[in-house]
Amino acid sequence: MKNIVILISGGGSNMKALVKTSQRDQWEKKFGAKISMVVSNQPDAAGLVWAQENGLKTRLVDHRPFLKQFDNPSQARLAFDQALCEVIDEEQPILVLLAGFMRILTPFFVKHYANRLINIHPSLLPAFPGLHTHERAMVAGCQFAGATVHRVTAELDHGPILAQAVVPILSTDTPQTLAQRVLSQEHRIYPAAIASLLGNNVHQPR
Ligand code: GRF
Repeated sequence: MKNIVILISGGGSNMKALVKTSQRDQWEKKFGAKISMVVSNQPDAAGLVWAQENGLKTRLVDHRPFLKQFDNPSQARLAFDQALCEVIDEEQPILVLLAGFMRILTPFFVKHYANRLINIHPSLLPAFPGLHTHERAMVAGCQFAGATVHRVTAELDHGPILAQAVVPILSTDTPQTLAQRVLSQEHRIYPAAIASLLGNNVHQPR
């Protein structure tokens, strides 16, 4: 069985969409692949509880003790990423999916999972990498927002695009209402992009 690991920090609605689609569409039978573990860096991530209740293996790798242990922030970041890799590698995953994982990853981590690391970002990349994407799109006067599934490279919110969804910005929108509509598109395109990768066998390390 090919394992898939999902990394979350919060509510984990993308994680839930991935898990539900994988079960509904029988990824085990179809692709010989299953979501085997969910990892969070936040002890109180609501998604962690849901994953446990739904029979998934869960792990917590809290980044804060590393910040205390090292004076140098980049050393702390690297030590955290190394600890995270150790936990993820228990699964020997074919794919590692970032789903609202709110940590900037080191080049070490990105290289370790080269060709296996995928992210979803709530904007039409390459526009608006980083945070507060919906607010920034509205302030810029964009008529459309959206979401992007992409391969992860060492540069934040960059990398080859696998799927996108476009969402119109309405005159009545607030960043929150726009975020809700984008999020429901994220729940559609993320599982679809992963199923497509699994079907094409292009997740294999080159
Ligand atoms: C999503 O909008 C995702 O694109 C972004 O953070 C949000 C996480 O939502 N990176 P959830 O935890 O999957 O509900």
